[in-house]
Amino acid sequence: MHAAVVTTFDAPPRYLEYPEPVAGPDELAVDVVAAALHQRVRSQADGSHYTSTGELPIVPGIDAVVRDADGRLRYALLDDTAFGTMAERTVIEARRSVILPDGVDPVAVAAAMNPAMSSWVALRRRIDFEAGQSVLVIGATGNAGRVAIQVAKRFGAARVIAAGRNRERLAELGALGADEVCTLDGLAAAADVDVVIDYLWGATAEHGLVDMLTARADRGRPLTWIQIGSITGATAAIPSAALRSARLSIVGSGVGSVPGRDYIAELPAIAEAASAGAFDVRTRTVPLRDVESAWTEPLASDERIVFTP
Ligand SMILES: NC(=O)c1ccc[n+]([C@@H]2O[C@H](COP(=O)([O-])OP(=O)(O)OC[C@H]3O[C@@H](n4cnc5c(N)ncnc54)[C@H](OP(=O)(O)O)[C@@H]3O)[C@@H](O)[C@H]2O)c1
Repeated sequence: MHAAVVTTFDAPPRYLEYPEPVAGPDELAVDVVAAALHQRVRSQADGSHYTSTGELPIVPGIDAVVRDADGRLRYALLDDTAFGTMAERTVIEARRSVILPDGVDPVAVAAAMNPAMSSWVALRRRIDFEAGQSVLVIGATGNAGRVAIQVAKRFGAARVIAAGRNRERLAELGALGADEVCTLDGLAAAADVDVVIDYLWGATAEHGLVDMLTARADRGRPLTWIQIGSITGATAAIPSAALRSARLSIVGSGVGSVPGRDYIAELPAIAEAASAGAFDVRTRTVPLRDVESAWTEPLASDERIVFTP
């Protein structure tokens, strides 16, 4: 069979012949139908993700819509493995998969699940989000950010403010449920929110957090900052005074800070919503044999490549 194979972290995966996967106990060998190229997969393939062990070669891909031996479509989330989903076939654990309804669009589901999971799990499993709270999404023009607006509204957010650097893309976010938008140098406009969902971190958080706390009407009111992505920097220098002078909690949400069992517990509900078209993710379908060229193609940040073997 063929797979996208990473043999060096310095170059994109290549479409190569690869040995068939062998299902272990409690595993199913499946045909891959659609596997999306998330940011997480890019960092898996270049060795920069925090879960990377440096092992090579690897077949990247952390999730996919697959067809099992009984012909049923499933969404499957893989545990950390060197044999991912960017292949004609892979192995999954049934307990980390969800059978999808008939008639579902496999490409749309493959594209939406990872972006949706980031905010869904953060609000459901990492903090005690309550309906009626207000939310700021930083990095709201990307795939995960756009869906975070929809997820926050779905969970009853009273007000969602969407922040990003691109005014044209920000202008589209009202259609997804954003009540207000602001640019990244204008986060003070969101000073009084209850929860921040941050996909950027780095200098954006460093400056934005101080601007927000300075402008906050009641610093004794809890502000929970959920760190999810680090597009503008892996580190952010947070002044000690920010932690002392406001009721600020900074928490991360991802694999590790949220136990695997919690992700698995949320999978059916997220898959049901994704299957029903609840999340707006723009897809570009690419045959897996073109993986090497597609990997480095310029892509709008609100578009997601989905490989089909
Ligand atoms: N922890 C988790 O569970 C989890 C799950 C999913 C994703 N993530 C992480 O979340 C982050 C976002 O993922 P995604 O899928 O939404 O990525 P994406 O679709 O590529 O979106 C990238 C976002 O970052 C913005 N951006 C890029 N470079 C920027 C810069 N220099 N300054 C300001 N903004 C910039 C983009 O803005 P423009 O629209 O202006 O280009 C866009 O809003 C990634 O770090 C990803 O790894 C984490």
